[in-house]
Amino acid sequence: MKAVILVGGEGTRLRPLTCNTTKAMVPVLNKPFLEHLLGYLKGHGVTDIILAMSYLPHHIQGHFGDGTKMGVRLSYRIEEEPLGTAGAVKNAEDLLDEPFFVLNGDILADIDLTAMMRHHRQAKAKVSIALTPVEDPTIYGVVETDAQGMVVRFVEKPKREEVTTNMINAGIYIVEPEVLDYIPPAKPTMFERYVFPLLLEKDEAILGYPSESYWIDIGTPEKYLRLNHDLLLGKAPSLFKATGGVQTGDGSQINPSANIKASVLIGEECVIGPGVEIKGPAILGPKCEVDEGATIEGAVLWDNVRVGKKVILRNCIAASHSEIHEESEVPDNCVLGDKVVVGKNNKLAQGTRIRPDKRIAPGSISF
Ligand code: GTP
Repeated sequence: MKAVILVGGEGTRLRPLTCNTTKAMVPVLNKPFLEHLLGYLKGHGVTDIILAMSYLPHHIQGHFGDGTKMGVRLSYRIEEEPLGTAGAVKNAEDLLDEPFFVLNGDILADIDLTAMMRHHRQAKAKVSIALTPVEDPTIYGVVETDAQGMVVRFVEKPKREEVTTNMINAGIYIVEPEVLDYIPPAKPTMFERYVFPLLLEKDEAILGYPSESYWIDIGTPEKYLRLNHDLLLGKAPSLFKATGGVQTGDGSQINPSANIKASVLIGEECVIGPGVEIKGPAILGPKCEVDEGATIEGAVLWDNVRVGKKVILRNCIAASHSEIHEESEVPDNCVLGDKVVVGKNNKLAQGTRIRPDKRIAPGSISF
């Protein structure tokens, strides 16, 4: 089976993590996010995959090549200007001659694609949209269906009194090739705002495929952090087999007095000093160094991060080559971009985001 993955967005909400890389390439459990998504598709027999790209395409192409290493066949379509979710698929029309999947490149799910394709065929739908429940539908676009599961209405950000369903578009579709005739070529066009409402207007059959299975989008740092935690904690077992323990990469040195409590993933060639406390779920990328007496709880560190003596990191994200000097504190939901240096004795406020390469002088921030 075929799929188009949309990986052309700039990922502005995920900045500063996406200042130097695309959302698809941010590491999740020390692997590019897209690798997890390709594994998910492959698990359902979807191995002919087109990547629709615009922002920093060479990062993705350079890493994945023709897909052989992942056991899939990859093709690439690059947009000079972003064409929107539907325009990007239209751009790959010459490769699409049978019903195919479309996936937003920033979601990870355990939704059963095989069953979804079966329902799509039985319903003779032109499009099927996977639906996932959310707690607060008022901030999303909800999808109303009839008793047979066919879509009757799309409602963008319904007011609380208008809410009739909590099922939202999960960013996974099956599309029949003839639907591409509704999409203008070389013009920015969105499925959600243009193509799907137009199909309803034209009385074309759209199936809603509801699923309670694991689903998350990594649009924001909070959700990116949650995905890392969820996978480590075994909340999506078919996507990642969590060991529930401490996994250490080759060549890492851990001082015997360090106290590491599961679930923790430590990449290759890390050095963990004496008296360090690491409490999972936490992830250290390759070549991180953590000095004496530091505490890391719930944090995700990319590669080559330096953590000084008695530093405290809690539920935060530190991108590649960032440094946090001694006795500084980086609390919940802080995000440090690549090569950020937090000088010693700083206490950041919760949720602080620092752009790549910025240096914070010692003791200049206190909360
Ligand atoms: P924000 O800037 O934070 O809103 O992120 P985004 O634009 O990357 O993501 P958004 O949630 O708006 O889009 C959902 C998915 O569609 C993401 O995986 C994007 O990469 C992808 N996408 C959005 N616009 C385009 C586009 O013009 N072309 C392609 N190929 N993909 C797109």
